[in-house]
Amino acid sequence: MGLGMYKPYVVQFNEQQNYHNRLEDYDDNKKMNPSRHITNNDNDIEQQITNMYNNTTIVNVYHNTNFAPWQLEEIFLPLFGNAYSFPVLINMSDHTWCVYIENEMIAAVLATKRLFDNSQALYLILFGVKKSYQGIGIGTKLLDIIIQYTKRDHCNFIFLHTECSNIKAIRLYEKLGFKKESFVPNYYRSISNFRPDAYRMLLTLK
Ligand SMILES: CC(C)(COP(=O)(O)OP(=O)(O)OC[C@H]1O[C@@H](n2cnc3c(N)ncnc32)[C@H](O)[C@@H]1OP(=O)(O)O)[C@@H](O)C(=O)NCCC(=O)NCCS
Repeated sequence: MGLGMYKPYVVQFNEQQNYHNRLEDYDDNKKMNPSRHITNNDNDIEQQITNMYNNTTIVNVYHNTNFAPWQLEEIFLPLFGNAYSFPVLINMSDHTWCVYIENEMIAAVLATKRLFDNSQALYLILFGVKKSYQGIGIGTKLLDIIIQYTKRDHCNFIFLHTECSNIKAIRLYEKLGFKKESFVPNYYRSISNFRPDAYRMLLTLK
């Protein structure tokens, strides 16, 4: 199911260990309905009932909350094929963001803290939005949430690798300020269904 039939929709940000840390309204996202509003903890239920009548949908973004690994595989497998061992990547990650509409996970990000240039950095291991929900701003909003979190977490950088041919992803990252930091030939040489060359992309936060 795609989100098209759900519009207008409301985005609500939940973070497991920091529930008051809700996302601020974001006027810059042209894809969101201008009449949108963000719910807060106290009136969630009342808000959800109102949303039902207004035909709105809440998109929840959870950070490091409990998630089912098979749900992550359901996101990543159709997008990346058998390129990766997902259990290994899930174990590698110490940060996970999962996006839900009701009980359906529609997007996810795996990330881990690493050093970059001798500074704390967040490395994005996998970033994916279910095909039927792509192109409507979910990836942009999710990456923005991750950037805001990483700033608060006093990291200086976010970085990642992407195939040089992945125009959609490169546009998304560049839109939010990432730069192509280096060209890495043959980075994906051992992954058969990927083009071999990658860009390492970097967002400098300070
Ligand atoms: C890359 C991906 C995460 C983007 O998520 P998304 O929710 O579709 O992204 P958005 O709707 O927020 O669009 C973000 C930007 O991507 C670009 N984009 C989106 N759809 C596009 C398309 N069909 N063609 C070209 N660029 C496109 C645009 O620049 C867009 O910004 P704009 O609408 O303001 O111009 C998603 O397409 C995906 O999961 N792809 C498969 C897995 C993948 O490649 N992951 C990244 C690996 S590094």
